[in-house]
Amino acid sequence: MNVESLIRDWDGETVITHYDKPTGAWMFIAIHSTRRGPACGGTRMKCYPDFSSALQDALKLSAGMTFKFAAADFEFGGGKAVIALPPNFDVEARADLLRRYGALVRQLDGLYYTGPDVGTSSADMDIIAETGSPYVFARTPQAGGAGDSGPITALGVFHAIKTTCATLDGSDSLVGRTVLVQGAGSVGKTLIRHLLNAGADVSFNDVDSVAIDYCRTELNLPFVPSDQVFSTPCDIFSPCALGGILNEKTIPLLRCRAIVGAANNQLATLADAELLSERSILYAPDFINNLGGAMGITGIEALHWSERQAEQRVIDAITHTLREVFELAKKENISTDAAARRIVQVRML
Ligand code: PHE
Repeated sequence: MNVESLIRDWDGETVITHYDKPTGAWMFIAIHSTRRGPACGGTRMKCYPDFSSALQDALKLSAGMTFKFAAADFEFGGGKAVIALPPNFDVEARADLLRRYGALVRQLDGLYYTGPDVGTSSADMDIIAETGSPYVFARTPQAGGAGDSGPITALGVFHAIKTTCATLDGSDSLVGRTVLVQGAGSVGKTLIRHLLNAGADVSFNDVDSVAIDYCRTELNLPFVPSDQVFSTPCDIFSPCALGGILNEKTIPLLRCRAIVGAANNQLATLADAELLSERSILYAPDFINNLGGAMGITGIEALHWSERQAEQRVIDAITHTLREVFELAKKENISTDAAARRIVQVRML
C-alpha cells in the first residue's frame, strides 16, 4: 500500500515516524484525535510483512482508541504506537529498544500516553517508563502502576457477551451456551475462565503451543483447528486474537448467532458490518466490548479509582453502550457497527 495515500486518506491528526538505527525497528505513533484530551493507546510490538502494513496498523488502531475513550466518556483522545521489529530481531536488544521508545514518548511531552498492547506487557511498561515517565500507564504494581490490563478487558468482554445474549433471546444467562474463543492470550484466557464459571460450553482456537497446551490439559477444553474456526457452529464466536478476521471470505462460513470479542479492528472493512447484518449475525462492535483495559487502567491511575470502582464502571459503560447500540441499529435498520459509530460520534461533539 502506498504510504502517502495511507496518511492522506486517514482521518487522524498526526503520525510520528522514527527509525531506530541500532536495531532497524520502525516506530510509529499515530495521534488520531486530541479533541477530548491527550491521545492515549497501547504500544503494539511485532514483526510486519512491510513498512506500510505496520504504519497502516498504527493508523487504524489509533481510530479505535478515539472511539473507546469517547464511548467511556473519558478525557482522552485516541492514539496508538507500533514498534515494527526487524526480521530475526535479537531479544537481547529489546530492553534498550523500549528505553529509546520511552524517550520518544517523553519528547512528545504529553501529546501521547501509552499502555500495553499485543506484544508488550506491564513489565515492558516499567522499562518504557524509565525514560518515558510520566506518560506510561499499566506499569506493574511493584513499580506503582495498575498492572496488567488483560483481566479487566476480559471482564468487560464477558459482560458484553451477556448483554448480547440478552438481546438475542431475552436471557443473559450463559448456562449451556456454546462459545468459541479465538485466541487464549492475555485477554482470552481470563475470558475463558469467566465463561466457564458462568456455565458456558467453551471451545477454543490458538496458534501458540503453550496456550493450546494450557487450555487442553489444564482446562480440558476442546480445541478447534484454525481451518475450522469460522465454520464451527456455536452461539457466540469470540475473536480475541488479531484484527481483520471478519471479511468477505470468512463471513459466509460463519455458523454463529453473534460475534463478541476482544480483538481490535475485527472487521476488515466497514462493508463487512453490512455482510454480517445480511446474515442476521449480531455483531457487538469491538471498540465497545474491549474498552475495559483502557478505561479501567487509566481510571485507576489518572482518576484514582479503586479496582472495584474501575470494574463496576467498565461493566456499566459497556452494558449501557451496547444496549443503546443494539436498539439504535434495530430502530434505524443500520448495522450495529454503524450505530456504535453514530453514538460515539455524538459524544465527541
Ligand atoms: N491495549 C489497550 C487497547 O487496545 C490500550 C491500553 C491499555 C491503553 C491500558 C491504556 C492502558 O484498548
